[in-house]
Amino acid sequence: MSHIPYGRQDVIADDVEAVTSVLQSDWLTQGPIVPRFERAMADACGASHAVAVNSATSALHIACLALGLGPGDWLWTSPITFLASANCALYCGARVDFVDIDPRTYNLSPDALARKLEQARTENRLPKIVVPVHLAGQSCDMAAIYALSREYGFSIIEDASHAVGGRYQNLPVGDCRFSDIAVFSFHPVKIITSAEGGMALTNDAQLAERMALFRSHGMTREPAQMSREPDGPWYYEQIELGFNYRMSELQAALGLSQTTRLHDYVRRRHELARRYDERLASLPLTTPRQHPDCYSGLHLYVVRVDATRRRAVFDALRAQDIGVNVHYIPLHTQPYYRRLGNASGTFPEAESYYAEAISLPMYATLTEGQQNRVIDVLGRALLA
Ligand SMILES: Cc1ncc(COP(=O)(O)O)c(C=O)c1O
Repeated sequence: MSHIPYGRQDVIADDVEAVTSVLQSDWLTQGPIVPRFERAMADACGASHAVAVNSATSALHIACLALGLGPGDWLWTSPITFLASANCALYCGARVDFVDIDPRTYNLSPDALARKLEQARTENRLPKIVVPVHLAGQSCDMAAIYALSREYGFSIIEDASHAVGGRYQNLPVGDCRFSDIAVFSFHPVKIITSAEGGMALTNDAQLAERMALFRSHGMTREPAQMSREPDGPWYYEQIELGFNYRMSELQAALGLSQTTRLHDYVRRRHELARRYDERLASLPLTTPRQHPDCYSGLHLYVVRVDATRRRAVFDALRAQDIGVNVHYIPLHTQPYYRRLGNASGTFPEAESYYAEAISLPMYATLTEGQQNRVIDVLGRALLA
């Protein structure tokens, strides 16, 4: 009986060839492939600019820096996300607060956001940035969040780590029509991979330029950005405090090669989701609701089961070598965030979601036979 993970990459011969040809080329980093990968993703999403980096975590960090987040500022995000969606604010010396989730989509709730903004205005602690996270690949209600951003004057970074290849109101996630910046992850469990890697997309040339600066030490070779005439062709200046967040040519070659199969991967995930939906319909669980405005990237397929049964069901699946997982432990309950003043009980929808959630295996190369095994074991565990 082979192990079935909850997610895994698909690397084919074309990918291997793309990477090995870079290995034999003149550039292992800072060559021609990174810009090609950036252009391919920007074009696929209909965004004007893309800045490739070594992870989505780095992309979130440079996005915050480019938007000027700093000490005294607030960033708000969903408690149901990976640590990185919030940590980016702390890297900038800013503070983090959370907005509870919608109990149907599990994404940041625009209603809860509206209520919290109204309250924050009276207390003079409005956020500078809101990070909606497209959980499992399904876009947040971006039109509603964007409308609130106009009213309250915050910037928006979409954490679209799960949503590469997804659509919202029939246009690609990542086109940034309702945000300043959108961030993708290319970690191996995601839709397409560059091993480690991330990308920040934007329609704002100045934000793109600033993110590129922060990606590489804050240094520039552009005479127009310099404080004085260059001493010579070798000359560069550091004009910001940046980092080395660059993506290598090897990673970009893998990512670019995978990009050609992006839509096939998402289509296959939808086939698998439909099979799960049909075959789990009679079981005592909640399958994920797909909002009619959204075509999810379907990074995850999360079911909810009765909280009192969740652990037993989870253990039964793991005992059969089925690598189920839980996404995510609410951020405000993490010890680090508790030390910053957060407490359990503050975001009830997030906490009840966490008590019930199980992520079932979902990846493009999952076979129907493997999926049937997951469904059988899950069914037996639920009815036991
Ligand atoms: C929602 C979300 N944001 C950010 C990240 C960070 O991505 P990376 O591993 O590319 O830094 C992840 C990764 O799991 C994620 O799931």
